[in-house]
Parts: sequence; C-alpha cells; structure tokens
Amino acid sequence: MNPFSLEGKKILITGASSGIGRTIAAEASLAGANIVICGRNTERLNETFDLLHHGDDQCHERVIFDLADESATIEIIQQLNYFDGVVFAAGSDLIQPFSFTTSQQLKTIMDDNFTGQALMLQKLIKTKKINSGASIVFFSSVNGTSIGSKGHSLYAAAKGAINGLVRVVANELSKKRIRVNAIAPGMVETGLMKMNEEIVSKELLEVHRKDYPLGFGRPEDVAYLCIYLLSGASVWMTGQSITIDGGLSINR
Ligand SMILES: NC(=O)c1ccc[n+]([C@@H]2O[C@H](COP(=O)([O-])OP(=O)(O)OC[C@H]3O[C@@H](n4cnc5c(N)ncnc54)[C@H](OP(=O)(O)O)[C@@H]3O)[C@@H](O)[C@H]2O)c1
Repeated sequence: MNPFSLEGKKILITGASSGIGRTIAAEASLAGANIVICGRNTERLNETFDLLHHGDDQCHERVIFDLADESATIEIIQQLNYFDGVVFAAGSDLIQPFSFTTSQQLKTIMDDNFTGQALMLQKLIKTKKINSGASIVFFSSVNGTSIGSKGHSLYAAAKGAINGLVRVVANELSKKRIRVNAIAPGMVETGLMKMNEEIVSKELLEVHRKDYPLGFGRPEDVAYLCIYLLSGASVWMTGQSITIDGGLSINR
C-alpha cells in the first residue's frame, strides 16, 4: 500500500480558487481523494474544478462563501459531510507600515487569514464533521514564524496566531487521533506574490530572490508537503509549524 495515497479520503480545501490551494486540490485529487473546494470567486473556483482528476470512484464538490461571514460559514457546514482532511489555504496580505494601520484593515487580515478559518474548524469539530484519524493543515508563513518583513505586521500577526492555535488544538484533538499542523512557506510564486510585485516593485523582489538559495517556490513544492500531511505517511506528526522556504532561513 502506498502510504502517501489519499484514496477514499474526503478533503475540504479553502482558498482553492487560486495559487497554493488550487494546486493542493489538483494534487490531492490525483492522489485519489474526493475534494470539496471552497472560495469566493465563482469563475476561478470553476477553473480549479476543471483541473481536478476525476477517477471512476471520485466525486468532487465546490462551495462558494466568504470566510469572513460567520453565518454563511455555519450554513455551509450544515450542508457538508464528514472529512478525513481539511486544508485551510485561504489568506490575504497587506503591505504597509504598521503606523498606518486601521481597525478595518486589522479585521480584514485577521478574518481572511485566521479568524474565519479558526471559527470554521471550531464549528466542524463541534458538529463532529471531522473523522477520527483526520489531518488538519493550516497555512502560516515564514512571516510571523521566523522572520518579520517590514510592512507585513498584520499578516505576520495573523500567521503567528495560527501557530499558537495549531499547537493547542493538536493537543486537544490528539485523543481522537486528529492531527493538526501548519505549513509556513517562504515566497511562493502565486497571486499573493504578484501583489507583492505590484506594491514592492519587481526590482526589489529580484533582490529578495537572492536570499533564497533554491529560489522562490512553486505552488507544487508546497502542495507535496501538504499531501504528505494529509496522508497516512505523517501519522506521527502533529502540532508542528513546518517551514518550507527554499533555504531562506539558513541565510538568516
Ligand atoms: N504565496 C506565498 O508566497 C505565500 C507565502 C507564505 C504563506 N502563504 C500562505 O499560503 C496560503 C495560500 O496563499 P496563495 O499564495 O495561494 O494565495 P492566493 O493565490 O492569493 O489565494 C488566496 C486564496 O484565499 C481565498 N480567500 C482569501 N480571503 C478569503 C475569504 N475571506 N473567504 C474565502 N476565501 C478567501 C481566495 O479566494 P478568492 O480568490 O475566491 O477570493 C484565494 O482562493 C495563504 O494562507 C497565504 O497566506 C503564501
């Protein structure tokens, strides 16, 4: 038996309409899972749906809602079935000095990266929609885990909150053999990085690229780690925030 197989597992993925979440959805479907993809943008979520592998016994679904809308999240959860894996890959960034922060910006960045998904997990647990032996994967970042890039204060705060949540919830759910981990990537070439490109400038990003011994990452570089965490190959791994950064941290 292939320990990395996801055959027969049902996996929910937020942030699946773009970047890393989209690639995880495609790779997890190739590994045999039945996927429920979530996002806000219908067109982009449909594009992801078209990328999924549809094997004979596989059945995938798509759900559109905003994680910042708690009542929409509750309604969606009521319609959903039981899961063997949940990947919280939604997120958004904001680049500006901390001194310019508004309370609305703080709320939005926390909602998109932390609060919406923390509440969703709480409701999935409370309604017993997470099977024993399941794997939960959050997305943290090197920002908020090991570095503090200027201009990313709110994002780093939200990602730091994820690291704390993961450690405690992993401990609490261990009796049900439910594992909870986070992936903390360095710069990966997705829509989020394009935003950085527009705000910070292409030239500065090229300078930053030199800090990465293996260059910037591709979504699949991170997706394969996620597949490992969702699979039976990682049954002894819980409560961790795993850095994957092309060697960025060895240069610091
Ligand atoms: N790319 C990087 O360099 C990098 C580095 C470290 C960590 N990460 C983390 O990895 C995760 C994936 O990043 P990415 O680069 O793939 O980002 P991305 O391409 O910008 O995609 C972000 C996804 O999050 C969804 N989303 C954001 N806010 C949402 C909300 N309130 N409700 C529902 N969905 C929401 C978006 O949905 P819609 O498009 O439908 O609105 C989209 O699917 C994020 O948590 C990010 O912080 C990324």
